[in-house]
Amino acid sequence: MKTTRRDFVASTVAMAVTARSLHAGNDAQTGPGQSSLPVVVSTWPFGKPANERAFALLLAGGRPLEAVEQGIRVTEASANPSVGLGGIPNAAGVVQLDACIMDGVGHRAGSVAGVEGVRHPISVARRVMEKTPHVLLVGDGARQFAVAEGLEVVESDAHERHAAWWKQRAAERAAPDTPGSPRGNHDTIALLAIGLDGTLAGGCSTSGLGGKLPGRVGDSPIIGSGLYVDNEVGAAGATGIGENVMRYCGSFLVVELMRQGLHPNDACMEALRRISRQDPKGTALGVSFIALDKHGRYGSATAGQEFQYVATDRGGSELISSPGLGPLVRVPEGGNRR
Ligand code: GLY
Repeated sequence: MKTTRRDFVASTVAMAVTARSLHAGNDAQTGPGQSSLPVVVSTWPFGKPANERAFALLLAGGRPLEAVEQGIRVTEASANPSVGLGGIPNAAGVVQLDACIMDGVGHRAGSVAGVEGVRHPISVARRVMEKTPHVLLVGDGARQFAVAEGLEVVESDAHERHAAWWKQRAAERAAPDTPGSPRGNHDTIALLAIGLDGTLAGGCSTSGLGGKLPGRVGDSPIIGSGLYVDNEVGAAGATGIGENVMRYCGSFLVVELMRQGLHPNDACMEALRRISRQDPKGTALGVSFIALDKHGRYGSATAGQEFQYVATDRGGSELISSPGLGPLVRVPEGGNRR
């Protein structure tokens, strides 16, 4: 039986929720070489094993970029229901994956979107960054690139399934802008890391919104939306309904708010406030941000969904409940989804 996100949350929620959780975030004033580094934060309780893999690499002096890739590979290789090949399929029953990685050193980035049958999209994203002059490869091009790079790819009958689905859909005369059977119950891993030397990196990986139209791409592989890293300031990542992040360059916004001096908690909350002021959904965005600044301070905020994230430092891993943006405004089933 397929494991649902709820099962994952239930199995990991038993992690100790300590005093740190009560104020959701930390206030460490640290810098390169100081003992509070390294730090890793990631979205959702299932991020814990990924954090711990990344943290061990950082503690041994590894680069944040390597730690981010190796950490996210742990999640992609697990039975996670919304990351990697076991993720939630699109309307045609095909799993299409999105991922990106960003290195604060050199301000480099790589992404893949709508890629099928690739075991580790985060590694393909890193190769895009390191081995091509490009930032983003999509669909079959991204898959062929993964094959050419010798990365693990499994068979895919996606082309036939998509063709059959569009044919059936045309026969049913469905409205062209109505997704097949949207299921919002998906969760991205966004993982942010600061190393012993105070440099930063981050990554995202997801199967995206369940029941999405074939070819739909969410926020996760879009630099500035699902992820942004700036060594001068810090890093931010998003999870939730990508469309509600992409129209506001959400992670870039969080980093820019930290640049103005906001604590990561406050930057995440202010970004959600700004989005909810303009968005027709108000506070019912179904979006959460995490952030990590160049001092090793971290935080989060959430709007329209319960959200927990995991922080890992020399004190261990902690599951932290995110502060929420006001009361939930419920949108009627099927209403205003975009
Ligand atoms: N946040 C992932 C997505 O919307 O696809």
